[in-house]
Amino acid sequence: MKFFNILVIALLLINLAFAVPIKKKCIVKNKGEIGNKNDSEEIGNNNESEEIGNNNEADDDKKAINGPTRFEGDEIFPYETEHINTLASYTSECTVLLKKNGDFPLTKKDTRKVYLYGNGVRKTIKGGTGSGDVNSRSFDNIETAFTKGGFEILTKDFLDAYDEIYEKANKEFQEELNSNGGGFLNFGAIMTEPDYDLPYVKEGDLAIYVLSRISGEGTDRKPIKGDLFLTDTERKMINDLAKGFKKFMLVLNTGGPMDLSDLDSVENVLVLSQLGVNTSNTLVDVITGAKYPSGKLATTWTKYEDYQTIGDFAEKDDTNYKEGIYVGYRYFDTVNTDVMYPFGFGLGYTDFEYEIKSAKLNGETFEVKTNVKNVGKYKGKEVMELYLSKPNTSLDEPYQILVNFAKTKELKPKQKDTVTIKFKLSDFASYDTKTATYILDKGDYVVRVGNSSRNTKPCGVIKVKSRIDVRKVDNKLGDPGFKDYVPELNRKKENLSKVKKFTLNAKSIKKEVIDYEKPYEINEAVKALTLEEKAKLVIGAYVEDAIGSLIGAASTTVAGAAGETAKVAGLKPVVMADGPAGLRLAKSYFLDETGAHNLQGNLPESMMNLFDEETKKLIEESIPKPKEGEPIYHQYATAIPIGTAIAQSWNKEFARICGDIVGTEMEMFGVQLWLAPALNIHRSILCGRNFEYYSEDPYISGAITAAITSGVQKHKNAFVTLKHFAANNQETNRYLNSSNVSERAMREIYLKGFEIAVKEANPKAIMTSYNLINGIHSNESKDLTSDILRKEFGYKGIVMTDWVMKMEGDYKYPNPTAYKVIKATGDIFMPGSKADYENVLEAIKNNELTMEELEISATRIYNLAKEIEN
Ligand code: BGC
Repeated sequence: MKFFNILVIALLLINLAFAVPIKKKCIVKNKGEIGNKNDSEEIGNNNESEEIGNNNEADDDKKAINGPTRFEGDEIFPYETEHINTLASYTSECTVLLKKNGDFPLTKKDTRKVYLYGNGVRKTIKGGTGSGDVNSRSFDNIETAFTKGGFEILTKDFLDAYDEIYEKANKEFQEELNSNGGGFLNFGAIMTEPDYDLPYVKEGDLAIYVLSRISGEGTDRKPIKGDLFLTDTERKMINDLAKGFKKFMLVLNTGGPMDLSDLDSVENVLVLSQLGVNTSNTLVDVITGAKYPSGKLATTWTKYEDYQTIGDFAEKDDTNYKEGIYVGYRYFDTVNTDVMYPFGFGLGYTDFEYEIKSAKLNGETFEVKTNVKNVGKYKGKEVMELYLSKPNTSLDEPYQILVNFAKTKELKPKQKDTVTIKFKLSDFASYDTKTATYILDKGDYVVRVGNSSRNTKPCGVIKVKSRIDVRKVDNKLGDPGFKDYVPELNRKKENLSKVKKFTLNAKSIKKEVIDYEKPYEINEAVKALTLEEKAKLVIGAYVEDAIGSLIGAASTTVAGAAGETAKVAGLKPVVMADGPAGLRLAKSYFLDETGAHNLQGNLPESMMNLFDEETKKLIEESIPKPKEGEPIYHQYATAIPIGTAIAQSWNKEFARICGDIVGTEMEMFGVQLWLAPALNIHRSILCGRNFEYYSEDPYISGAITAAITSGVQKHKNAFVTLKHFAANNQETNRYLNSSNVSERAMREIYLKGFEIAVKEANPKAIMTSYNLINGIHSNESKDLTSDILRKEFGYKGIVMTDWVMKMEGDYKYPNPTAYKVIKATGDIFMPGSKADYENVLEAIKNNELTMEELEISATRIYNLAKEIEN
């Protein structure tokens, strides 16, 4: 009960005003600072054709004000349409066709009367729950999208009856939650899909079954019917429809894998995924052939029983990553297990053939060109994937690892494209823990190219004559308390006689030795600040008397933003808003002298559903209300596809465009740090937040992150925050669980994506994870933050904590402490409370934290706040 009460009290404490009717207005566009009443003045006579974000009509004094654009009125704003349309031309690239028999897309002659079944038809899911839940203006479900697409839906009665079943099950679920401590204690709890017995039509021309699953922050998925497994009802209906209908498609509106075993009668399966605002219209486009699927899985989908169980998952205190580097396809391919749908796999409506055109080694850069030909009847795009098999000389190695990929342009039937893919050998050096060195061991490196991890051709062998030390570091991450699993290797020797051979010139690789002693900068202006000001800079802005900052919406500058830096020394706060499926902000807000207030309250919509009616009412009553006549502004952000779906596009350009859209909206709404991308590894398919993350593979995770980062950061004062650094791979006891991982697995799997993105795209911020690593809180680890991130990877940005939630109760590990975070070269403790601030002052007094350590972190925050002033 405790946290739930805190939450309600917090909301009550920030209740500032009285209920009044909301006055509607037409569009007003201007910029200005909060609390400046003149800003609500109308500009340009409500001229709707004026360009968004272009303040050329504004008075000179308005131009000088550097603040967010304020949107008023009920009509859809041009930027919303533009962003939705831009995304719509790519979202089918995120969908993965797992099975096909040629019945789809529909032809013009096919019926437009459709039997739509499944929980996703009306309750279509655009993204998961929790901080990644984005508040777009509106969202069509699949039923509506099919209707708008000219279809007649023949299952209205069934869908109505299903709604009743759902409502009843949801009510029971909420009652159960309430008897268990309420929504907040059961953060992220998901109702399992109920079984039911409703009559349905078993024969006809066209049926589509849309199966949805949602998950989110706070709770992991479960290997039970109604979650990872199909319910008996779903299985029966899907099999019947597949057998009885002339054309049938199973559509998966899920954030991650389902166990799809024993569905042999189903011949068309599409992973629609969760594509933000465009989820439903994308499905209609794919079914009708207006668009085509060209995505590939970024995580292996197979029978649950075939995933590795060498390591632990969802343990309360300690989760031992005993499988070491054998994660995802690295495991399946090495132990040679058949999987249902391999990593990198996905069909199109059309088919492709590819052949190796040329391969060469230039210095340490290997380059392969493939000719790809569309040999089918439809338009399409193909992805070429490049894998590397390293020799098992002194270290055990997985069968292969992904080293790069590229997508063709759109190819018409019979059309060809040449795809060039490159990689640098030293970027994929293995970590030798004994000598604390990244190495290229002696032996043969086989490069393979193909269109799935299980369909590749060797295209070159690079011979390394003797071991090359690529980078000498120190082991930094402690002892996990076990030795990593090493698979038995029983692979048949491959005949590579016809494959081109190259010999690496060892001189092409310069050995790097890391200097951990290099000092950090301290700004003179920061030195001149008072101790109190310095301490406030390294703690997120808190409201003196409120514990409202506990609830992940701690910005007073931008309504619904997750946090901000303190307003000290005349600095503007740096505002942080969540992602990753877009920008999470309040849809509607008003301003007063205390700041911007979310009219819906600060809890994500998906979380509100976890509360009973009485609590919801209490929460709603506690939300600040505008005074009569006070203008209401809007921040309709565009929900982009979830992380996994973006990765499934295998299209770096699309990832960049997603970042560009978010960056544009950040500029408009005055947000400087987007709390995304999130790139934790899909270590287990059960992690409740996997949908926010990209893949089981670190290379694609890093490459997509780098592309999104460049899209966001090309905008003025818009920056990303990569999260959660690192090894945040489960939600069970997420605040106080220790991920126990070997140094090698950390470096080759869990840190690798961050390293790639840091080196390639220079992200401005990184958020540490909640979990501990080998018994040390990741946010309190100087080894991780300073030595690895800053000194080894060359990271130049700021490091913030995740939104620390102090836990009380029976836990093995303690809560993190503000001063220890700063001592570890973390820069800001989020969301920040008075107690955290006092903790820093106290630590200075007791010499647990030096003034220099405090000034180093304060300097980074100060510099960022200064940078955004311009
Ligand atoms: C999540 C973060 C999020 C933060 C702020 C935390 O609970 O783990 O991903 O950015 O809240 O909302």
